[in-house]
Amino acid sequence: MKIYSTILSLIALSAISSVHAEGNIEHGQKIFNRSCALCHGKQAEKSAMGQSQIINTFNEEKIISSLQDRKSGKIEGPGNRVKEGLSEQDMQDVASYIQTLKQ
Ligand code: HEC
Repeated sequence: MKIYSTILSLIALSAISSVHAEGNIEHGQKIFNRSCALCHGKQAEKSAMGQSQIINTFNEEKIISSLQDRKSGKIEGPGNRVKEGLSEQDMQDVASYIQTLKQ
């Protein structure tokens, strides 16, 4: 009995954490193609305006914190206007989508 409930709670835990770890890739793709690709490239493979790093090399955490720092104004950049319009969920979704662009 005890072992069953332990196994069940482990399954439940991993299901919850996988939901949190992954954004909605489809939604992220929409955001990316509409609001990011123009500067960062369709595959996130360009240096935006010759100033940014190549963001398809970034992991999710690094993308999300980069976006948060620009939304809050901690880092100033010519792409900040569009970053100000992103919700936390948008940031997660677009960060997950960018992971699919890694070569
Ligand atoms: C108008 C052009 C433009 C658009 C549109 C744009 N960016 Fe940027 N982005 C830049 C520039 C220029 C930089 C480098 C300057 C800076 O640090 O903000 C940058 C920096 C970044 C960085 C940090 C890269 C580094 O060098 O550390 C990330 C991550 C990023 N952008 C993601 C996005 C995402 C995701 C979107 C779409 C929601 C987006 N950007 C839209 C121009 C743009």
